[in-house]
Amino acid sequence: MVEILKTPEDLRAFSKNLRAQNKTLGFVPTMGALHEGHLTLARTALENCDACIISIFVNPKQFAPHEDFDRYPRQLDKDAELLASVGVDAVFAPDIEVMYPKDFQTTVSLSEITKPLEGEFRPTHFAGVSTVVTRLLLLVGADKAFFGEKDYQQLRLIKQLAKDLAIPTEIIGVPIVREKSGLALSSRNAYLSAEERPIADQLNVILKTMASEFKSGDAISDIEHRAAQKLLEIGFRKIDYITIRDAETLLPPTIETKSHRILAAAFLGKTRLIDNISAD
Ligand code: PAF
Repeated sequence: MVEILKTPEDLRAFSKNLRAQNKTLGFVPTMGALHEGHLTLARTALENCDACIISIFVNPKQFAPHEDFDRYPRQLDKDAELLASVGVDAVFAPDIEVMYPKDFQTTVSLSEITKPLEGEFRPTHFAGVSTVVTRLLLLVGADKAFFGEKDYQQLRLIKQLAKDLAIPTEIIGVPIVREKSGLALSSRNAYLSAEERPIADQLNVILKTMASEFKSGDAISDIEHRAAQKLLEIGFRKIDYITIRDAETLLPPTIETKSHRILAAAFLGKTRLIDNISAD
């Protein structure tokens, strides 16, 4: 069984023991309800470091009041079993009071990178993410931390905050794990009905079409417009964005843009799906 750590003291004892053996530590922060995408992050951590710790904490600060904090899937026992099968060394599963003691006062917020895309549609989300990730990175003190590219803007901002705050953990992005159909794995896919599944599968197909149209030289505004129409036609209810951006700034591409990323967020029924791929 994998060791379950609950407090900063448990974490300190765990890493002191590792350091004494001269072992490097990899860290994978998660909100649980683990799927193959998370397990790939854990395996990548184990390939790159001697030991791996994974955190499971459904962070209330990154959910707006109308979002799915209450119904977000929670399954610690099943998650611990999955992690044991991958060979993860420990799980940090803190109670809320450990992450946010009563007198907690700090918010970490970034400026430019959090403004577009998710920042427009979930204005309080990224401050919650950057605050919890900063606290987790400092508590765990790992050599390297691994984040999925599925939350592409989140990965960009975590790299930025680690650099800005001189956090001595290297931030590593890991490619998206997909179903055979192309659907990006997500804990929220559990909300999809049998009828919604095949529609959800089309999101990645549409992003791939956008990439090939972009490579053929079509105008970005036309590509985006056609893709949005298609999503609505096949049954998506509402589109937050489906767009081609500068892969670094996430702003509309300019002549200085070196690489391009196609990113989308759209609602299928009540479920908000996101995905992204490279356009180059
Ligand atoms: O990507 C997630 O699951 C979360 O945003 C993270 C990084 C664990 C912070 O709560």
